[in-house]
Amino acid sequence: MNTSKLPKMLYGGDYNPEQWDRSVWPEDMRMLRLAGMDIATVNVFSWAMLQPDETTYNFETLDDIMDMLHKNGIFACLATATGAHPAWMARKYPDVLRTDFDGRKRKFGGRHNSCPNSPNYRNYSTLLASKIAERYKDHPALLLWHVSNEYGGDCYCDNCAAAFRVWLRRKYGTLDKLNEQWNTRFWGHTFYDWEEIVPPNALSEQWTGDRTNFQGISLDYARFNSDGMLDCYKLEYEAIKRHTPDIPVTTNLMGTYKTLDYFKWAKHMDIVSWDNYPAADTPVSYTAMTHDLMRALKGGAPFLLMEQTPSQQNWQAYNSLKRPGVMRLWSYQAVAHGADSIMFFQLRRSVGACEKYHGALIEHVGHEHTRVFRECAELGGELQKLGDKLLGSRLPSKVAIMYDWENRWAIEYSSGPSIALKYVDEIHKYYDALYQLGIQVDIVAFDDDLSPYDIVLAPVMYMVKPGMTERIEAFVKKGGTFLTTFFSGIVNENDIVTLGGYPGELRSLLGIWAEEIDALFPGDSNRIVMKDSLGALKGEFKCSLLCDIIHSEGADVIAEYGDDFYAGSPVVTRNRFGAGEAWYVASSPDAEFLQGLLSALCAERGIQLLPGKQPGVEVTCRVKDGRSYLFVMNHNANAVTVTFGEDYGTDLLTDRAVSGDTQVEGRGVMIVEAS
Ligand code: GLA
Ligand code: ZN
Repeated sequence: MNTSKLPKMLYGGDYNPEQWDRSVWPEDMRMLRLAGMDIATVNVFSWAMLQPDETTYNFETLDDIMDMLHKNGIFACLATATGAHPAWMARKYPDVLRTDFDGRKRKFGGRHNSCPNSPNYRNYSTLLASKIAERYKDHPALLLWHVSNEYGGDCYCDNCAAAFRVWLRRKYGTLDKLNEQWNTRFWGHTFYDWEEIVPPNALSEQWTGDRTNFQGISLDYARFNSDGMLDCYKLEYEAIKRHTPDIPVTTNLMGTYKTLDYFKWAKHMDIVSWDNYPAADTPVSYTAMTHDLMRALKGGAPFLLMEQTPSQQNWQAYNSLKRPGVMRLWSYQAVAHGADSIMFFQLRRSVGACEKYHGALIEHVGHEHTRVFRECAELGGELQKLGDKLLGSRLPSKVAIMYDWENRWAIEYSSGPSIALKYVDEIHKYYDALYQLGIQVDIVAFDDDLSPYDIVLAPVMYMVKPGMTERIEAFVKKGGTFLTTFFSGIVNENDIVTLGGYPGELRSLLGIWAEEIDALFPGDSNRIVMKDSLGALKGEFKCSLLCDIIHSEGADVIAEYGDDFYAGSPVVTRNRFGAGEAWYVASSPDAEFLQGLLSALCAERGIQLLPGKQPGVEVTCRVKDGRSYLFVMNHNANAVTVTFGEDYGTDLLTDRAVSGDTQVEGRGVMIVEAS
């Protein structure tokens, strides 16, 4: 993104002055400046104001907002306002309303309430984006475009059904091919006419939640739904680009949100942005992982933190406050993982409706003498001091974790072997082990280049897409270390089982055959019994969830199951393949085992641990122009002592020289530029 207009980290957030009397606007501006803010995301929910009826457009208020921002030295992240359609549109053109999973036609209300395949929604949203782009293309406040808001959800209406059939024809060409790939001879579901195909919701193939009778159709519908919403985004994107080819366009994503395939989306975004709303009990390593996933979407390029709350949310069950220092700490956590902005929802707390108890820079009291404001203003001052130092810097990594949305859909649509199997949780277990060791990780897509890495982990790689096996084999042959787990290599991209024994195409790479898959009840476990020690890893550990019963076909057996009728059969194996090795972990191990295993693998490959790591302390490293910046974030409430090398560098936040033992206060942060 071209940040030359603003050579520092963007600081600001969602701002809805059109929801307020103009008499408060000057106070808003004064307080935003006081907090050191320089960007406001405006116009997110203004469609009803901008277009009060089908033929009238009125931009007067938005003109004034844009001018006011500019006069106050604040840039606009200008939204296209299409995240919620106006009431008149729902009444006049009911095709904009969605049909939900249970088959109920929605009425006006809610927010992400437009059918992605509604001709009227597509037409009017594109038109609005185009009018806004044309009007503000030369406005000096314009810095960034924000299309719609948090795309999500799904629709099962007749327009979607028709569009789904078109999508399927394009994908399969013939009904014969579709019938084969969906295995429709099962239960006699063979289709003889495209018109017989209906969306797989509660009225047809799908049960509540994720379960479905036919994974093929449900998986394709998930892809189709993600693609349909992406098409809506692309229509607006293209309309905007016709007027402002050089201004970056984004839409705010939602981390591990399941419904949209963000790797596909990111190809059409100039810069990734996302909204980070961890709960008080979300593991900090989960948030770290999510930032890394967002950074992965554009191959490691920096992203924008578009939203976070300065204090509390309203939509969780228990909306506790961010404790003093936590907003700052979590803001820097985003930066530490690749964010080039810190932005909030919201700048002024609304007076009515469901977000009036959502935290804001400006609270209901209306002045700046609040804890939240003070903390925000202090952070604003620090960001000014940091200037452009970190902008555009990258996070080098030798370890990658593979992640894929379609794989997740397929795993969780699968009927059996266990409802407890959650893809993101398994990814997080491996991520957390590396995080606890102080090893920086890249997340990569299933089709990303693996060559920059020494170690590639692919937990629960259930779906193997065309070409993947060859690429992973080539990576290992050249000397790479690859690791995958239970329930991997099972199906192709349409959820059709690869016959001839699990793990399918990966069998020769891994040197094993998985004969059966056992599902353990909650609370039950088996044991991983190490045959010899591996680095410091020895003895016994717990494993649970699923247990693949495997046979070695050339792989070394590193550990065996300790219990049940398959006690003594392999649970962890290593297969030498070319110059590298391929590991199989046949069950879901406890954290202690994973840390031990990954520590041993990283040590073998000479992968360096970042300095400063200890319990509750997070470390990452960003680099730019040959300079490196070590982030040390103390998530503990109490101070800790971190040991650096002699004359290690300078803390950019305090300008203090950093050398040897150094205190980091509770919830404190250091950004140390290495000397
Ligand atoms: C989302 C939305 C915002 C707001 C916040 C509240 O991120 O994009 O408009 O509703 O949630 O947390
Ligand atoms: Zn629809």
